[in-house]
Amino acid sequence: MTIFKGIILFLLLCFLFTTISTSSHPNTLLCNQIEKHALLSFKHGLSDPGNRLSSWSAQKDCCAWNVVHCHNITGRVIKLDLKNNGNSNFSLGGKVSPVLLQLEFLNYLDLSLNDFGGAPIPSFLGSMQSLRYLNLFRASFGGLIPPQLGNLSNLHSLYLGGVYSSYQPQLYVDNFGWISHLSSLEYLYMLDVNLHKEVHWLEFTSMLPSLSELFLYDCKLDNMSPSLRYVNFTSLTVLDLSFNHFNHEIPNWLFNLTTSLLLLDLSYNSLKGHIPNTILELRYLNFLDLSHNQLIGQIPEHLGQLKHLDYLSLEYNSFDGPIPSSLGDLSSLGYLSLYGNRLNGTLPSSLWLLSNLQSLLIGNNSLADKITEVHFNKLSKLRELDMSSTSLIFKVKSNWVPPFQLEVMLVSSCQMGPNFPTWLQTQTSLQYLDISNSGIVDLAPKWFWKWASHIDLLIDLSDNQISGDLSGVLLNNSYIDLSSNCFTGELPRLSPQVIVLKMANNSFSGSISPFLCQKLNGKSILRILDMSTNSLSGELPHCWTYWQSLSRLNLGNNNLSGEIPDSLGSLFHLNALHLNNNNLSGDIPPSLRNCIYLGLLDLGDNKFSGNIPSWMGEWTTLMVLSLRSNRLIGNIPPQICQLSSLIILDFADNSLSGTIPKCFNNFSLMTTVGTEDDAFSVFEYNSGAENYENLMLVMKGKASEYKSILKLVRTIDLSSNGLWGSIPPEISNLSRLQSLNLSFNHLVGSIPDKMGSMEALECLDLSRNHLSGEIPQSMKNLTFLNHLGLSYNNFSGRIPSGTQLQSFDALSYIGNPELCGAPLTKNCTEDEESQGRDAIDENEGGHEIPWFYIGMALGFIVGFWGVCGALFFKKAWRYAYFQFLYDVKDRVYVATAIRWNRLRNNLRKRKSMVKMIKLSTQLECHPGLLI
Ligand SMILES: *[C@@H]1O[C@H](CO)[C@@H](O)[C@H](O)[C@H]1NC(C)=O
Ligand SMILES: *[C@@H]1O[C@H](CO)[C@@H](O)[C@H](O)[C@H]1NC(C)=O
Ligand SMILES: *[C@@H]1O[C@H](CO)[C@@H](O)[C@H](O)[C@H]1NC(C)=O
Ligand SMILES: *[C@@H]1O[C@H](CO)[C@@H](O)[C@H](O)[C@H]1NC(C)=O
Ligand SMILES: *[C@@H]1O[C@H](CO)[C@@H](O)[C@H](O)[C@H]1NC(C)=O
Ligand SMILES: *[C@@H]1O[C@H](CO)[C@@H](O)[C@H](O)[C@H]1NC(C)=O
Repeated sequence: MTIFKGIILFLLLCFLFTTISTSSHPNTLLCNQIEKHALLSFKHGLSDPGNRLSSWSAQKDCCAWNVVHCHNITGRVIKLDLKNNGNSNFSLGGKVSPVLLQLEFLNYLDLSLNDFGGAPIPSFLGSMQSLRYLNLFRASFGGLIPPQLGNLSNLHSLYLGGVYSSYQPQLYVDNFGWISHLSSLEYLYMLDVNLHKEVHWLEFTSMLPSLSELFLYDCKLDNMSPSLRYVNFTSLTVLDLSFNHFNHEIPNWLFNLTTSLLLLDLSYNSLKGHIPNTILELRYLNFLDLSHNQLIGQIPEHLGQLKHLDYLSLEYNSFDGPIPSSLGDLSSLGYLSLYGNRLNGTLPSSLWLLSNLQSLLIGNNSLADKITEVHFNKLSKLRELDMSSTSLIFKVKSNWVPPFQLEVMLVSSCQMGPNFPTWLQTQTSLQYLDISNSGIVDLAPKWFWKWASHIDLLIDLSDNQISGDLSGVLLNNSYIDLSSNCFTGELPRLSPQVIVLKMANNSFSGSISPFLCQKLNGKSILRILDMSTNSLSGELPHCWTYWQSLSRLNLGNNNLSGEIPDSLGSLFHLNALHLNNNNLSGDIPPSLRNCIYLGLLDLGDNKFSGNIPSWMGEWTTLMVLSLRSNRLIGNIPPQICQLSSLIILDFADNSLSGTIPKCFNNFSLMTTVGTEDDAFSVFEYNSGAENYENLMLVMKGKASEYKSILKLVRTIDLSSNGLWGSIPPEISNLSRLQSLNLSFNHLVGSIPDKMGSMEALECLDLSRNHLSGEIPQSMKNLTFLNHLGLSYNNFSGRIPSGTQLQSFDALSYIGNPELCGAPLTKNCTEDEESQGRDAIDENEGGHEIPWFYIGMALGFIVGFWGVCGALFFKKAWRYAYFQFLYDVKDRVYVATAIRWNRLRNNLRKRKSMVKMIKLSTQLECHPGLLI
């Protein structure tokens, strides 16, 4: 017994000793057994693929487990920090078990950046009375936020929402009343939470007496004008309501937040009206972002009285008039963006006194001024300068040594030339350089290419007249655009990190092989290669396996010869291939079949021979197919009809024979409305460019801009072949087709009766065939028609009268001896007359199209840019169009990259704000940056 007691005593002593000796080391505290079991059971419910909780073992003291924090005296668990590091391989998931309720003293719970797969936020969290900090940010919780959270009366920080994905339910709130019970709340962050249904959000949040930071980002709010008499945010320092749907004026209550407010961000809404004078009341404001709204009027002169401002962004609004000179009084200002407004006049001289300025973004305005080196004397901290798309003239001495080191310089479409800006050589930190279209007519200096190789990201010299021999030069930037200059010599060498290389429209010459077969110092990630419109020659080499990342390749308008090598088919990610206007010959190689993600193929204007391969029908994402002006023979394979996304089909000017397949009505984008977004998204998705793609997603607005351009055109051109047979009636189902050219073939039979249902048709050319019969009455329905060719066939009877068919020149109809009626001079005979009368009777029966509509249609066409002219009759325009198709995304890419950079700067700025006003660290997770 005594021995036993002794052992117990000994154990007790040991226990006491260890407890005492370790009490100053909170990590080695002995934890409460109930809590330990609760935590083990909590762990059991979770999935933990990255084994982050491997230290949570029954053998160990739970206070020593990682991410568990115990109170240093009581040993009770007070903090659970399960935040992930952003790497999805380490995301926790599964079930958040209510056993957590047993952690009575838990005051800090962080589950952010994990993935709970859209599960609802567990409502038991509302019973964890001691919680002071609850972070569920970007943890993929979805559905209704449980109102029980309103019971957390000790809570002072609450983070909810985060990136919302379409395949998971979004978090939402029906009635936000519960928030007003969180009487201790100081920090409220909600991102991508749908608050659309809660019109009283402002009343409820303003009842929180201690609220210091309110961040409701992308919460679908549409009204911040309170229905209550006043808003009583007594402690608010940060108010960020960006990315919502406010479409009214800036409300007055904001300006009652006089002494407290330091940060106001209302960007990315649709706010209207002027900036009210009362904004001056916010006299301690550090950070003001009203960008991306619809604000108008002049920028108020008195803004210069907000002396503490160090961040001011008014970009992308509709402000006009001059830049107020008082902005020069904002001596702390580090970031000033007035980009994308309608500001005019000269730059106030006071602007150049802002010695703390790091970012000066005044591009895309109507500003006109001459800027010399003197102006920059005080701007030694400048890092980012954007004066692009203005009428500013940037004239500095060639030996100027600027006081700053720029990281971003965007002076596109702003007068800089004619001399090359040699002062650039002093800038050693540049990451973006865009001096496109800036009037430079000069030789690129010798040092330039070596210097430029240190620019990390973007260099755009396009649309100048810069000359120089690039033979042997090594290009090293991610994005390089040298297009439309006077560069000569052989193609330069590339480093593996180049993603986009555009050198179109220069005078590069020599064989293309050394470039394509160069030994790269690593694996190339080149996605876009455009060397069109140069004087490149030689055969396409077999080195395509070096360029596996290519998604767009343009070698059009050169002097390339020989056959397409099989290895081109190894470009699995290829999305657009232009080889048009060369001297290429041979068959279309079977290996091309592997390029299953092609969206655009232009082999036009070459000497390709053989048949159109039937496997082309497997390219289900193909939208544009041009094989124009080659020596192709044989039938049009009916498999082509499987290309349901096709919007442009051009087989003109070959030696094709046989009949027109009956199945053209399978081109669903030419028949039905509303599916091109899907087709387009495939096209996008398969661009094979992760980075690029993600950036695209961020710029939803821009992507849809591209879509709307694509939506413009639907054409089929089979002209100048040897096609026979009749026009299949199925073709009249292509109700969205804008242009149909079947001229110069051997077609027989009549025009399908229902041709009139091709309502979008603007150009119809059936001339030079052997078509016969009457012109169907239904063609009166073609109200958009502005080019018609029926000449040199065997049409007979009266041209349907009283319609726009009369508005065409007689040339549209000549060469049909049996055709009569206006605009032809041949009068109709009795028979034809009676038939004409029938037609008129029909018109009187209410089928006549009022001329009013036709007028409208013509107006529409004028505003629309003549698709027909561009694609059919002027070759140059046709190239321009394809070029256009191809370029828009790049422009989006650049814009996005720059935008992204801005966001990053923005973040940097915010980070400095963090120090200043102790903004919560969660701001790092600004969703705009999670790209
Ligand atoms: C326990 O922690 C608190 C702060 O959390 C600290 O102020 C106190 O000094 C600590 N006590 C001991 C004994 O370490
Ligand atoms: C506004 O809030 C403060 C702090 O909670 C309170 O003292 C004051 O009475 C409130 N004012 C009104 C008019 O409700
Ligand atoms: C702003 O404050 C004044 C008093 O300082 C008050 O009369 C007015 O109602 C407040 N306005 C709002 C919208 O809160
Ligand atoms: C600026 O634009 C306004 C109208 O938009 C015009 O009245 C004014 O004359 C312009 N100022 C200059 C300097 O061009
Ligand atoms: C022509 O348009 C009218 C009215 O829009 C319609 O009733 C008629 O069916 C159309 N005819 C053809 C052939 O599409
Ligand atoms: C056609 O008929 C008109 C009268 O309807 C007549 O003036 C004209 O001379 C005729 N033209 C021909 C070529 O017969």
